[in-house]
Amino acid sequence: MAVTTAVADLGPALAELTLAFTPSTEALRSLAATFQEEVVRGLDGRGSSLRMLPTFAEQPRGDERGRVLVVDWGGTHVRVGAVDLAGRGEVEVVAERTVTFTESEKVAPAALVFDAIASGIGQVAGAARRRLVPLGFVYSFPARLERIDRAIALGLTKGWRLAGLEGEDIVGLLQAALRRAGVAGVVVNAVANDAVAPLVLHTYHARGRDPAARPAEIGLILGTGTNLAAELPGAGIRNMESGNFSGVRAVETPWDAALDREVEDPAPGAQRLEKMVSGAYLGEIARRVVAYLAGSTGRFRGATAAPFRAPFAFDTANLSLIAADRSRELSRIGALLRRFGVDSSAPERRTVRRLAALIVGRSARLVAACLIGTLGHIDRALEADHVVAVDGSLYGGYPGYAQMVRGGLEELVGRQPAARIRLAFVKDSTSAGAAIIAAVAARREAEALGAGRQYPRQRRGRRRGEQGKGGRRTP
Ligand code: BGC
Repeated sequence: MAVTTAVADLGPALAELTLAFTPSTEALRSLAATFQEEVVRGLDGRGSSLRMLPTFAEQPRGDERGRVLVVDWGGTHVRVGAVDLAGRGEVEVVAERTVTFTESEKVAPAALVFDAIASGIGQVAGAARRRLVPLGFVYSFPARLERIDRAIALGLTKGWRLAGLEGEDIVGLLQAALRRAGVAGVVVNAVANDAVAPLVLHTYHARGRDPAARPAEIGLILGTGTNLAAELPGAGIRNMESGNFSGVRAVETPWDAALDREVEDPAPGAQRLEKMVSGAYLGEIARRVVAYLAGSTGRFRGATAAPFRAPFAFDTANLSLIAADRSRELSRIGALLRRFGVDSSAPERRTVRRLAALIVGRSARLVAACLIGTLGHIDRALEADHVVAVDGSLYGGYPGYAQMVRGGLEELVGRQPAARIRLAFVKDSTSAGAAIIAAVAARREAEALGAGRQYPRQRRGRRRGEQGKGGRRTP
């Protein structure tokens, strides 16, 4: 005789989740207002969860030219590359190498990591140079810049805990590693956060075509982590470290609170916005909620056991797969859950689909609130046009994410004002952005020296793509 276990209807549970993951419009507006207040407090140094760090980066003119080396350090991999700026807003990544680090190397002495990066730079830099080559270093972790080429590392994020890094100047560490590696003629002349990259890259493209074009005022990263950079009246371009915004506590669910409590790094209380909106966490939130549903409704057989029980087992990329399943029986969702040892019925698969939409939809609405908070500081009545330049795998990879952010903007400020905010997706902005920041810094330095020195040009005789396999051109 077949034994049946009582399972609860999923309807009430889904209603509970919908409520929990859908902050009201009023709550969202109040979040935007809190964000705006924190922008001001952060700028005034009055204590804010937004760090509002000076970047010393300046908007490009669009006519910057020449070869620049770049380092992009933001996740497990570090990319090193060579980029050609052609003026007219054109950028070409002509060589790129990836340096990969193991989990144990992420907690090693910092010098080892810098040595590996320096040797990668040696490979892309090629043979001896006649002129000094500038290098732009994108460091996608919190750092306090004292100049465009001096950045004191604050606490690391994203699982890195290098010994001997916090409190040190990362430009000095890289330059020293280049010396140790025997890489001559490379000057690390600019360091920047990745959130600055889409901002300057968008401006470079736009002004390269039309020198009077409107610059991007905001750079937004929405990938593994999240952050905003913004050019603010009287304050220049700031790295807001918005992933640390703590106002979102006001709309947290029990699953967010538990995640914050249980994850050790970043510490409880830190990176609260990031923990509710970015790619590193959305899959984990979904996993926790499904496990809760399994426990409370007797559904989702297998979800309370390994492998689904392992924290962070369920990657955020799975939410994109879930959203993309248009089949009638949601068979791809079924197959995905089976890979995690979860047996599902059609109503359960529909619930998972709805849950993914709720979690990612909330992410987009929270991001919209932060954008309105930032823009409110720049232009209180939202009278002018504004450009937000966005990059990141979540924004680019989750079906319909951009439209959801737009929907959030409209919900917050109404259709007309929201139409004045342009969200421009600037894919793969980091290396190109780093090159632009370094080129602008080099030009500014040459101007300051007043000797009419030119920003180093590409050596005559070297052909494009000589050092790399398959150059990548951004439009
Ligand atoms: C870091 C930021 C970075 C963001 C996006 C966050 O975890 O603190 O500095 O910009 O991730 O990569």
